[in-house]
Amino acid sequence: MEKTKVAIVGLGTVGSGVAKLLLDHGDRTARHAGRTLWLEKAVVRNLNKNRVCDLPDGVLTDDLNDVLTDPDIKVVAQLIGGLEPARTVMLQLLDAGKDVVTANKALLAEHGAELFDHARALGRCIAFEAAVAGGVPIITNVSQCLSANQIGSLHGILNGTSNFIVSQMDEQGWSYEAALAEAQRLGFAEANPAMDVDGSDAAQKLAILAHLAFGARIRWSDIPRTGIDSLDLADLRFARELGYRIKLIAHARLVAAGLELSVAPTLIRFGQPLAEVRANYNAISVVGDAVGDLFFHGQGAGQMPTASAVVADMIDTAVGRTPITFRTLELWSKRESNVVIRPDQEMPGRYYMRFQVADRPGVMAKITAILGEEELSIASIIQHEPDPRGCAQSVQLVIMTHEAPEGAAQAAVDRIVKLPVVSGEAVRMRVMEERRSSK
Ligand code: HSE
Repeated sequence: MEKTKVAIVGLGTVGSGVAKLLLDHGDRTARHAGRTLWLEKAVVRNLNKNRVCDLPDGVLTDDLNDVLTDPDIKVVAQLIGGLEPARTVMLQLLDAGKDVVTANKALLAEHGAELFDHARALGRCIAFEAAVAGGVPIITNVSQCLSANQIGSLHGILNGTSNFIVSQMDEQGWSYEAALAEAQRLGFAEANPAMDVDGSDAAQKLAILAHLAFGARIRWSDIPRTGIDSLDLADLRFARELGYRIKLIAHARLVAAGLELSVAPTLIRFGQPLAEVRANYNAISVVGDAVGDLFFHGQGAGQMPTASAVVADMIDTAVGRTPITFRTLELWSKRESNVVIRPDQEMPGRYYMRFQVADRPGVMAKITAILGEEELSIASIIQHEPDPRGCAQSVQLVIMTHEAPEGAAQAAVDRIVKLPVVSGEAVRMRVMEERRSSK
C-alpha cells in the first residue's frame, strides 16, 4: 500500500493522542486514506521527559530539522500550544514544503492572516478542525457542508473547562475553585486557565467561526466578552428557580443592522438543547437559511477527542482534500469583508439582574421607576422573605426583563447601583431565546 510519511511536532496531551491513533490504529487511517500514514518523526523539546506513549525506535527527536530536511515527510501535525515558538515553527514547516495540521486556536486567532497568506503564497495548506470545539467537526461543517446556506445564527458552548465548572457548581454545589482544580486535573484547561474562564478562549474560537460562517474579519480581542470567573452560586440557584441554567454562550447572529458577536454567561431555559450540555462537552447550534436548525454536540477538549480531529485532518491533507478546499475557501484572505459588526450597545436582549437591596418601604418603587425611565419592561421578580432567625437588613432582588437594547439595560443597572438603598455590585446577564428557524 502507498505510504505517506507524516510527523508530529509537540508530544503533549494532544500529540500523544495523535501518535496513539496513528500507531495503534493504522488500519483505520489506511482504510480511509487509501494509504498508510507513516509516523516518521515526533519532535519534542526534551528527550528525557517521561512519555505515556511508546514510539518505535528512531521516531522521537529533539531536532526540528529532522522534519524540515526530509522531503518525504509531507504532512505535519504542529501541536505546540501558545503563540511562540508555534508561529515560527509553522512558518518554517510551510517554507520547507509541508502541509500543516494544527489544533492551536490561539495561534490562528492571532496570526491566521499571516499564516494563511504564507501558506497560499507557497501553494501549501493548513487544516485546523481541532482548533474549535475539539472533536466536534464544526469547522468542516460550517466551511464546507453548509456552504449552500446563509448562516443566520450560531450559538456555541465553546469552552469545555467553563462548562465543566458551571455544571459542577450547578449540579453538585461545588465551589468555583474546586471545579476549576478538577478541570485542570482532567486535562481540559489550557496551561493558563485564565483564558478558559475569562471568555478569551471562547472568543478566539468564535472569531474563527465568525470568519468562516459570515466572512467577518474580527480580532478576537474586539469581541465583547465576560467569563464565568466571577459567577456566584446564588445566580445559578436563582436561575434554576426561574427555570433556566447559566452557560457561557458564544453568540453570533446576522441581522439587518449587522453581525452581533459576544461571549457571556447567559440564562437558557431548561429543555433547550444548549441548556442540557453538561460537563466538559461543547455544543454549537447553527441556523442556515436552507438547512434550518442544526445542533452539534460532543467533547471539545481532552486528548482523544482532539486527536480524532487532528488525524482526520491529516488524512484529508494526505489524500488531497484539504489542499483543494484551502484554495477555494480563501480563508483569512485579504479580500475585503462587507460584514458590519453591530455595536454591542444596540444588541437587543432580555436580562437577568440581581441587586442587594435594603428591606424597607419604597425600595422597589425606586428601582422600577428607573427601569421604566430606561424603557425596560419587567417580566418577573423574585424577592424572598429574609431568614427570620437572622438580622439581615437587606435582601436579594432578582429581576427578569423583557427585550431591550444592551445599552438601556446597562444604563439602568448603572443608575440602580448608585441608589443609597442598593449595596454592593449588581449582576446582569443576558437571557437567550432560542429562535427556531421555522418560526
Ligand atoms: N481549554 C479548552 C477548553 C480546550 O476547555 O475548551 C482547547 O480548546
